[in-house]
Amino acid sequence: MNQRLMVDTAAAAIVSKTGIRPAVGVILGSGLGAFAEELREAVTVPYAELPHWPASTAVGHAGKLVAGYVGEQAVVVLSGRAHLYEGYSAQQAAFGTRVIGSLGAHSLVVTNAAGGINLSYSQGALVAISDHVNLQGANPLTGPNDDHWGPRFPDMTEGYSIASRAIAREAAKELGFHLAEGVYAALAGPNYETPAEIRYLRTIGADLVGMSTVPEVLAANHMGMKVLAISCVTNMAAGVLDQKIDHEEVLETGRQVRSRFTALLKAVI
Ligand code: HPA
Repeated sequence: MNQRLMVDTAAAAIVSKTGIRPAVGVILGSGLGAFAEELREAVTVPYAELPHWPASTAVGHAGKLVAGYVGEQAVVVLSGRAHLYEGYSAQQAAFGTRVIGSLGAHSLVVTNAAGGINLSYSQGALVAISDHVNLQGANPLTGPNDDHWGPRFPDMTEGYSIASRAIAREAAKELGFHLAEGVYAALAGPNYETPAEIRYLRTIGADLVGMSTVPEVLAANHMGMKVLAISCVTNMAAGVLDQKIDHEEVLETGRQVRSRFTALLKAVI
């Protein structure tokens, strides 16, 4: 079955199960699932009940869609995403984004857990992504272009909306914290980087490193959605501190920033 037919089938299932046509889509990263509990009139649909949906297997990812309202805005939240390191293609990693776009959302808010490369960051910092470097060796736009979705050669000069970042910065300020900005380097994973790779990434201009987000952001831009992406620096990147990185630490930092992260997303939306 072609990709658009699968996406449209999943989108139709969401409309029939939730009755919601979202203006904004939100994708939640590792350990950052708490926001899904904040929606009004929430309807939850496990991914397993949605046709063609890639199951999320990573620990810390719930694997459910929650539709509801933040203020007056209709929102669809994906709690759990598909990653390349699970064996999914970039197209599958972007499937949920395609569905959100097909449901008519004009904006996508993406969150992730990331390693901090920029030495001015510290563990627990929230950073708005200003741009990315795709080192995943994969791209969801590879293959025949579906002109219904977007152009063959999409522009990425403002892949991360300047206006949305300004809104997020103001919202953070009102909540009493500074929202930094930085460039996100995306790798396929699943291993954390070597210290040599982190030195290389710093040299090429990266401030953050992670294993997600870029497939979704490319598909969203292709479809003309505005993108805001926020990283939680769950750990300093390999070799920055004299300690090893483990997934439990990543999840624990996510839990620690839970209330700040949730408040920021609510304010932004
Ligand atoms: N590297 C890559 N991905 C990550 C990291 C990291 O240090 N922390 C959380 N996700």
